Amino acid sequence: MASSLWSPLSLFATLLLMQTLAEAQTSSDSFVHSRAAYYPNSDQQGTDTGACGFGSFGATINGGDASAASDLYRNGVGCGACYQVRCTNANFCSDKGVTVVLTDQGSSDRTDFILSKRAFGRMAQTTDAAASLLNLGAVDIEYRRVSCSYPNKNMTFKIDENSNYPHYLAFVIWYQQGKKDITAVQ
Ligand SMILES: *[C@@H]1O[C@H](CO)[C@@H](O)[C@H](O)[C@H]1NC(C)=O
Repeated sequence: MASSLWSPLSLFATLLLMQTLAEAQTSSDSFVHSRAAYYPNSDQQGTDTGACGFGSFGATINGGDASAASDLYRNGVGCGACYQVRCTNANFCSDKGVTVVLTDQGSSDRTDFILSKRAFGRMAQTTDAAASLLNLGAVDIEYRRVSCSYPNKNMTFKIDENSNYPHYLAFVIWYQQGKKDITAVQ
């Protein structure tokens, strides 16, 4: 059994990767106005049940600064994309906001993002301001796409346990860096 490659006749058979890297939807660096809420019952981490299929990796990705997105989910293409999100209430909110990774699909009360509780609080200037922000539940925000960065990590293809050679191959991509979409893997 010399070859580790699967039959080229079966769908997605080889892991010879040709990434189609599409430019992110707009190249502009300007912020877009929207709203964000948070998972009320989440602890300080992200979610391990997100629609992106990251599993337990999704709970700790980016230190727990994760988010569900509504339209930005884009049928899964948005999974793993990073956004800078900052709230706009000058009394509570920092200029920098927080950088989150998309791990799930969801919306609530006209939001584009449902942040992890940790990420939501990190938009605030101080711990006290974070408590006030969390009390508001859903807030006005601005967001923009930014590069994802995972120092000392390589992009990793995690094969799903349900894969069944040679009929079915499923995987998720961990540590997708940069600002471009992966739209196809051959
Ligand atoms: C990333 O890939 C490079 C080149 O294959 C390798 O030398 C390095 O050890 C890898 N880093 C990690 C964290 O796996």
